[in-house]
This record gives sequence, structure tokens and C-alpha cells, in this order.
Amino acid sequence: MYTFESILQRIEKEISGLRFPEPPQSLYDPIRYILSLGGKRIRPALTLMACDIYNNDIENAIQPALALEVFHNFTLLHDDLMDEADKRRNRPTVHKKWNANTAILSGDAMLIAAYQLMCSTQTPYLRQILDLFTRTALEICGGQQYDMEFESRMDVTEDEYIEMIRLKTAVLLACALKIGAVMGGASPEDADNLYAFGINIGLAFQLQDDLLDVYGDPATFGKNIGGDILCDKKTFLLINAFRLANTEQKGILLDWMGKEERDPAGKIRTYTAIYDTLRLKELTERKIEEYYDNATRNLEALSVSTERLTVLKEVCDHLMHRQH
Ligand code: IPE
Ligand code: IPE
Ligand code: MG
Ligand code: MG
Ligand code: MG
Repeated sequence: MYTFESILQRIEKEISGLRFPEPPQSLYDPIRYILSLGGKRIRPALTLMACDIYNNDIENAIQPALALEVFHNFTLLHDDLMDEADKRRNRPTVHKKWNANTAILSGDAMLIAAYQLMCSTQTPYLRQILDLFTRTALEICGGQQYDMEFESRMDVTEDEYIEMIRLKTAVLLACALKIGAVMGGASPEDADNLYAFGINIGLAFQLQDDLLDVYGDPATFGKNIGGDILCDKKTFLLINAFRLANTEQKGILLDWMGKEERDPAGKIRTYTAIYDTLRLKELTERKIEEYYDNATRNLEALSVSTERLTVLKEVCDHLMHRQH
């Protein structure tokens, strides 16, 4: 079986080998830029690891793995524009380095390039893979729409939040795993179990992202701390802050909301202090553990020996405790 390091190396090599037609160079430069900034490459890695569980020949899984990474990076270009984020992977976001129209159009081109890569996959299961990919892409749009609508709502429930992050984040990790499993020749039951595993890992992954957005180290996180607070994002932390706050704390939270921010640092400081008092970091960590335990059970349901799951398990352990 492949080690995680060798899988990552292969992904980096393939990504740096991607070629885009030119001109116009100005359409493709931002694509090369975002793809060259690294990132964890977790989605393509999940595809290749899932394939490797069933078949050591991962060659034909490379194209869909690349497609998923290009697709993921496309969502980041549009997401950063929507979230007004200035920094990604410790560098200026595309709409900051260039402009909003560039982020939109180069993002569109990446979505199309992702389909092109997905369609070039050598497999009798192409139709199945394309159906899953297309459904997933639409679900992500739905999740992103909820994410934005929730910004101006004060009554978002935890269940609504979980459904929103399932759509915006978890389904892509699940899709990556299932495509890998299908490419490796897994049974439909195993492919579905890996999909369910991906949902649980994905929910934990987004909860961790929300946590790092408040408590991360700016140097390793690569994004500005407090971005979610400034956008009034209804994160797991904020929803539970509303639930647990006393009248005074609730008043303070509401007072800063829905306004053009004149004192961003003050808002972040105030919210973080309330989160600290309510011990929301610990609450979020417990929720992450819960989804992680569910994910472990999904793996136990697979029809393969535990040795074949070692790499995937290690990577997911690592993901749960990540700092970026
Ligand atoms: C960022 O994804 C968007 C989320 C779903 C939280 P990653 O955290 O995988 O970003 P990179 O690709 O490693 O930079
Ligand atoms: C991102 O959620 C989900 C997608 C990109 C589809 P976030 O908005 O939390 O991701 P970051 O924090 O900007 O990476
Ligand atoms: Mg964002
Ligand atoms: Mg977002
Ligand atoms: Mg985030």
C-alpha cells in the first residue's frame, strides 16, 4: 500500500504538471497561483487512499483526484469573494491580488477544467462518478447559499447548521472517498460506508475549521483569524453562544451584529471573550469527537482487513487535531 507521504508527493507532481490552454494568460495565471499555494490536498488524497484500500493500482484514480482538487480550489475563489476574505494559505486571495471579476471568471474556468478532468477518467463507472460529482457540486452550492442566508438570521438552529456544513463541506470529502472506492472496485456497500465515513469526517473537519477561525494560530492557519465573527457567520460557536449566554452577554453579541464594522478587532475580542467564558472551545471539541467516533464505526463496517485501513485512519486522526 502507499504511504500518505507518497500519495501527497504524487498529487503535487500531478498538480504541477497540469497545463492550461492560453491565451489569455490573465485567465489562467490566478488558477496556477491558487493551485501552487499548496493546501492540505486532503480531497485528492482521500480518493487515492480509498482506491488503494481495494486495489494497489491507483493510476486511473489520479484524474478524478485531480478533478476534485481543482474543483475544491474553484470553490475557494468564489468563497473568499463571498466571505470577503483577504488571505488564504498565507497569501492574498485571488480577488485581492487581482479583482472580483477575475475570481469569478477564473473560478468558472476551474469548475469547467474540473469537469474536463473528471470526464477523462478511464473507467467503466464514468457515468456513476459523474452523477455523484454533479450532485455533490450542486449540494455545495446549496450549502454555500444557506451559509450566506444564515449571516442575517439570528434563529439558526444547531440542526440547520449541521445540515449547512454537511452540504458545503462534508459531501465533497464523502464524494472523494466514494469515487476512490468505486475506482478501486469496492462493493456498493463498502463505497456507501466510505461515503458515510466521509460525511462524519467532513462534519468534524468543518467544526475544526470554525474553531480554528477563532482560536487558530494565524501563522499556521493561513487565513485571518476572526473572519467568521466579522461576517456574523452562524458557526457552531456562535449558535451555542446564543443558546448559553445570559441576557447581558446576548445583548452584547447582538449589539455588534449586522453592522458595517468600524472596530473589527474589538468585535473579535469581545466575541472571543464570551466564547471563552461559555467554554465553547471545549463544547466544539466534544462535538468533533462525537463525529469522529461515528466515523470510526463506519470504518468498522467495511469488508476489508484492518491493516488496509491503517493509512486512512492515521490521516484522519491527524486531521482531527490539525492546526491549519
Ligand atoms: C477549506 O478547505 C474550506 C473548508 C471546507 C473548510 P481546506 O481546509 O481543505 O483548505 P486547503 O485546501 O487545505 O487550503
Ligand atoms: C468553506 O467554508 C466551504 C467551501 C469553500 C465550499 P468556509 O468559508 O468556512 O471556508 P474557509 O474558512 O474560507 O476556508
Ligand atoms: Mg470562507
Ligand atoms: Mg464560506
Ligand atoms: Mg472557515
